[in-house]
Order: sequence, then C-alpha cells, then structure tokens
Amino acid sequence: MKSFDFKKTMSTMARERLEVSAIGSMIKLVIEHGAISFTAGEPSADLLPADLLAEAFEGVFDDAAQLGYYRSDLGHVEFRDWIVEWMRRDGLIPGWVKTENIMMTCGSQEGISLAGEALIDPGCYVLVESPTYMETLLTFRKQGAVCLGVPIDEDGIDIGALEDILRMKKIRFLYSIPNFQNPSGNTATLERRKEVLALLQKYDVPLLEDDPYHYLSYDSATPASYICLAGDDARVVYLGSFSKIVAPGVRCGWMVVPDSLIAEITSLRVNSCLGLPTMVQQGMLNLLTRLDLESYIGRLCSAYAGRRDALLSALDAHLSGEGLVHNRPLGGFFIWGRLEGIKDMSDFSRYAVVNEKIGVIPGSVFFVPGAEDPSSVRFSFAKVDKAKAEEGSARLARAIKSYRS
Ligand SMILES: Cc1ncc(COP(=O)(O)O)c(C=O)c1O
Repeated sequence: MKSFDFKKTMSTMARERLEVSAIGSMIKLVIEHGAISFTAGEPSADLLPADLLAEAFEGVFDDAAQLGYYRSDLGHVEFRDWIVEWMRRDGLIPGWVKTENIMMTCGSQEGISLAGEALIDPGCYVLVESPTYMETLLTFRKQGAVCLGVPIDEDGIDIGALEDILRMKKIRFLYSIPNFQNPSGNTATLERRKEVLALLQKYDVPLLEDDPYHYLSYDSATPASYICLAGDDARVVYLGSFSKIVAPGVRCGWMVVPDSLIAEITSLRVNSCLGLPTMVQQGMLNLLTRLDLESYIGRLCSAYAGRRDALLSALDAHLSGEGLVHNRPLGGFFIWGRLEGIKDMSDFSRYAVVNEKIGVIPGSVFFVPGAEDPSSVRFSFAKVDKAKAEEGSARLARAIKSYRS
C-alpha cells in the first residue's frame, strides 16, 4: 500500500519557511569526523553542576499537588517570585515588573519564538543585529518576517545605520543581544544602549532583549539592561536563560513581559502546551536557592575567562601569520574574527573538518542574505581547554596552508 504523503497537506509555513540550522549541520560534521570543535555555543560538560542538580531534583515529586496541571499558566509562582527578587537585586528590572510579568520558558529560544508569534505578521520587517544569532533568524522567518540587518561594531549597534532604517521602513521590533553577543562577542556600551533606546522611542518601535550570557562577564560589570533603561516606557521584552550558567539540557528560562503583551503571551503558552513541567521548575528553584549563586557564578567566570585567554593566545600564536584578525570578548563564549584571504569560509570550514579535523563556524550563517561577510568566522571557547586550544589552532593553521596551496 502506498503510504500517505504529508507533503501535499502541509501548511505554507512548513513547506516554504522552515530552514535547517547551518550550525547544527556543522556540529554534526564535526562529530562525524571526530574533530576538535571550536563550534558549539554551549557550556562545558565538566563545568555543569550535575551533582548539585541531582540533589536539587531529589524530592521534587514529594508534593503530589505539583503533579496535576499547575495553578498558573505562566509557571511556578515561587520560582517567578524568586526571579523578580534576583533581577531586582541585580538592578536588571524597572519598578513595574512583578511576578505577573514573568513567564517561565523552555529556554530563551522559546521566548524568541513566543515573542515572534505574538509580534510578527508575514511580510513585516523585523530588525536584527548584523551579524546575529542564527536560530533567531530561522524562528522569525518561519513566522514570515523579513529580517533586516543593522550593522554592529565593538560598542554595539551602529546608530546612524539604525536611524536610516527606522526612517525608511516600518519596523515591527528590534531584536538585540546586548551582552557578549552571539556570534560577535561584542557588548553594547551604556552610551549606545541609551542612543538605541532614544531612537526606538522616537520611531515608536519596541525591543526584544535576549540576554542569555548576562552573568558570564569576565572583565567588568555589564552595562544596564535595556529593560531597566527603558523604565516606565515598558517597550522592552526581556529574555533570560539558565542554559549558560546551569545547563542547557534542563531547558529553563524566562521572559519579562510588559502588561500590554502578557495576556497574548499567556494564550500562546496555553494554546501550544498548556504549561511547562512544574517539576523542572521546582528542581531549578531548589538548586538556585541552595547555591551561593555569587561564588558559583564567580567560579564559572574564572574558568571560562581562562579558556577565552587560552584560545586567544593559541589563535595568535598559530594564526596571526595566516591573516587572522579577531576581537577580545569581555564575556560569553565567542571570539569573532576574519581570515583575510579566505574568500569562502563555508567551503573552508568544511575542508578544515574533513582534512585536519578542526571545526569552526563560518560567520556568513549569522547574517541576513546579502549582508554576509564571507571571510568571517566564529570560535567558541566554552568547551575548549588549553591543550585543545593549542592543537585546534595548529590544525587550523595547517588547514589554511593546504587550502590555499
Ligand atoms: C543569543 C542566544 N539566544 C538564545 C539562545 C538559546 O538558549 P536557550 O538554551 O536558553 O534556549 C542561545 C543559545 O546559544 C543564544 O546564543
């Protein structure tokens, strides 16, 4: 019997707007070839608090009441209370934020998706940084958005370019990763943040602030958040995540949603899955309230800062003679660079995995079509110890030499 072909009954969205993640494909290739990886933007397994998580999740089933449908569509109430207190203590939120403005998410990625569903109509313009986190481009384009890129530099969004676009096009919202941006590693200065907000106010455009790397700051304090700077203007939706400081596999993050959008975000949650697993949220709350969070994060930061410095030195030692220029991020997981003379980094990065067993992510996947920098490259140092940094950089130098010859 001929099986049913779902192709003929698929939605336009599923047929025309779903794309495969180029980062996922590169990571798959790296694994297939047993290569050293400077690719994945995820925490290092040896730094995940596995034992503490196991303890924290013990007993989450003790309260049978939590095994039914939960009483709040937005998620575990005590956890959301804790998040408000935590963010307030750290000066991240303005006065209007209450527990009722916090929605638990299945990671920052779900917040991106929910915000996209609530704010995007097919054909509308959404502004993203150029370059930006690629999975966001996929999510917004699935929703039908036309993503436009605004260039960024070491200090954040290019203000002149931002105003040019805002003047010319009706923009639905701006998506920004202000701290230790993925992929560029850049952090917007306080000045730039203020200038961006002033323009958004002038052109009456809201902002989606994605901040999963917030606490991974190695050299200096992070500037004030957009949501805090906007104050009562309340034009910012903020996305937080425990993926980078606890573990991505727990799938736990949150959104701070202004009053004028919270009803719609709540309906989207109920329509898609009723609610998220309460036990996960209880386990995470146990962990976070038992930990001395400040010293825990301090230890993470010093470990990752060491990895950043080791990869920077190894890249300089092996690759500055091969035309690599790169930045020095103040936090997060990523170093951004350009390999002068490599005209097609996508082709080269496949070559490097297959021939020298070293994986990097070609920078062009992080741009909207037409804005690509074909020589750009992203290195992640999160999972790279000193020995791997050395060996991987040496392999990359060999790959460049043989690729050019
Ligand atoms: C900028 C940015 N946003 C969101 C995410 C997704 O994180 P989460 O695991 O919290 O969904 C990532 C993960 O790499 C990211 O870099």
